[in-house]
Amino acid sequence: AFYPVIPAGGSGTRLWPLSRAGHPKFLHQLTGGDRTLIQETVDRLKYVSLPGDTFVVTGAAHAAAVARQLPEVPASNIVVEPGPRESGPAIALAAALIQRRDPDAVMGSFAADHVVRDVRTFVTTVRTAIHTAAEGKLVCIGITPTSPETGYGYIRCGDHLPTGARAVLEFKEKPSREVAENYVESGEYVWNAGMFVWRVDAFLAEVERQLPELHSGLMKICESWDLPRRDEVLSEVWPRLPKISVDHGVMEDAAARGAVAVVPAAFGWNDLGDWDGLAAVLEHDDEGNTVVGTHDRVITIDTSGAMVVPNSSRTVALLGMRDVVVVDTPDALLVCPRDRAQEVKSLVEALKNKG
Ligand code: GDD
Ligand code: MG
Repeated sequence: AFYPVIPAGGSGTRLWPLSRAGHPKFLHQLTGGDRTLIQETVDRLKYVSLPGDTFVVTGAAHAAAVARQLPEVPASNIVVEPGPRESGPAIALAAALIQRRDPDAVMGSFAADHVVRDVRTFVTTVRTAIHTAAEGKLVCIGITPTSPETGYGYIRCGDHLPTGARAVLEFKEKPSREVAENYVESGEYVWNAGMFVWRVDAFLAEVERQLPELHSGLMKICESWDLPRRDEVLSEVWPRLPKISVDHGVMEDAAARGAVAVVPAAFGWNDLGDWDGLAAVLEHDDEGNTVVGTHDRVITIDTSGAMVVPNSSRTVALLGMRDVVVVDTPDALLVCPRDRAQEVKSLVEALKNKG
């Protein structure tokens, strides 16, 4: 069977003030419909898995909201981590729990907060990844890069494999600007979509090789998983596990040893890094203005390229504005130029320092 895992952590500070530590972006409706990002993530995985086989790993603060939004995911598959330690421990814990249930399992890890516009192509891509993973490779999904974005992983593609995947020669997580520019120019690299498919035994063998403390910690946690002392063991072991992303902790070195494959794909992928990125995937009117949610409280005159998120009961009015972001919430208002939307996270930092 195929087991989808959704690591849902991080606070997505670049989508402030809508996305907050207490209400991260995966819990929001951001694509115009009535489903939240994590609901859409689970929806599109129904085509490749059985109901009841999906796992979510999230923090205690979000577990109740996740359970409410995903009634089809069994409560025992919503794994609550005692604290954020990046994606590595979260994904590896899910792998270890799945292995207990099904030692031959293939699992996939899918970020909770991405947009996929072409679900049909997404599904065929995941099927190809599952076939490729059967042979023991750690499989990523690759997106043709359109800019030297430094927030992504870069994958250098090698030989074509019979399944339709390609061998991976190198995996470089979040390179410098200069390196990213060279990668994009070379035409040999794709972006890592942040989706992974592998046999749980192959992945856990890599974890054991590269992050032995993580592996032994997880084994301890699993031993007590069905016992009354589960929470005690979890809260004792978890804070001592390495704090590392799966990309830095596992993928870079696995790729260097030839254990990684990639399925190049084009399914209208966007990781919604910031308000500008979100605007790029949503529909806009003739003036290039995008409104997320209720239009009837937004009025624009002689305004173009605006990204407007009316998330309070107020009317939002723009006159003579070009390429701005306006996000209105009951207790915070953001106004900034579209092309500086990546810097919103520094506002959040500055606010934190202000206390
Ligand atoms: N449970 C849990 N706990 N989940 C976490 C944690 C954590 O501490 N930290 C991150 N996650 C989840 C996020 O919610 C997301 O679903 C996934 O793990 C990836 O984490 P991000 O923090 O969003 O990673 P990133 O965007 O910097 O980079 C990853 O995605 C890029 C594509 O969007 C990498 O895989 C890059 O290589 C990739 O290009
Ligand atoms: Mg991300």
